[in-house]
Amino acid sequence: MASSTSQVIRDQHASIAAVLHSVSMMVDHGPGDEPERFFDVLRAMLFYIDEFPERQHHPRESDLLFPKLLRVAPELMPVIEGLEADHMKGEGKVRALQHLLLAWELLGESRRLAFEQAAREYVRFYLDHMRCEETELLPTAQRLLTAADWVELDAAFLCAPDPLGPGARDPSFDRLFARIVLTAPAPIGVGRSFHAMDASQSAPQPGFPSSRGRVSTGQ
Ligand SMILES: [Fe+2]
Ligand SMILES: [Fe+2]
Repeated sequence: MASSTSQVIRDQHASIAAVLHSVSMMVDHGPGDEPERFFDVLRAMLFYIDEFPERQHHPRESDLLFPKLLRVAPELMPVIEGLEADHMKGEGKVRALQHLLLAWELLGESRRLAFEQAAREYVRFYLDHMRCEETELLPTAQRLLTAADWVELDAAFLCAPDPLGPGARDPSFDRLFARIVLTAPAPIGVGRSFHAMDASQSAPQPGFPSSRGRVSTGQ
C-alpha cells in the first residue's frame, strides 16, 4: 500500500545525500581564500548530520521499521543486521569527522589530509547505507507491511520533520538552515563558489529545497 513513511524516508535520504555530495565537493575544492566560510559551512553540515539523521532518522528506522520488517520478512535479517551495525557506528563516525575538521581548522594543514580521507570514506559509507535501505528494504515494506503498521510508522516519521526538508520546520533550526542553504555554494546552497574560476561560470542554482528529490544517493 502507499505510505507517507516510504516517501518521507526517500525525501530525508535525498536531503542527507545532498549534504553529503556537497561535503565531497567542498573537500575536492578546498577552502580557497575563504577558510572562515569554508569551515563554517562544513561544521554546519556535519552538525546537521549529527543532529537530524543520527538522532531522529536512524532511531525511527531501528526501533520501528526494522522490527516490523523482520516480522514479515525474516529473510532480511542479514541485511538488517548490517544496516543496524551502520546505525551503531554512525554517530561515532560523524563525531570523529567533526573532530578531524576542527583539528584541520585549528591546527592547520598538517591535519588536512586526515579529514579529507575520512570525509570521503564517510560519504561512501553513508550513501551505500541509504542505497541499501532503498533497494533492499523499502520495496519489501511496501509489499508486506499492513495498514496498521503504516499508521504507526507515519505518525513516528511525520512528527520529526527534516530541518532541511520542505514544509514547516522547528524555528530553532532556522539558523542552521540559513547557514547551510544561504552560505554553501551550489549545488546545495545559493552561496558563491569558493573559487574565482568557478564563480566565473554560470550562476549557482540552489540545491535546497528546489532540487530535493533529484539528488540521488548514487555517486
Ligand atoms: Fe538507516
Ligand atoms: Fe535511512
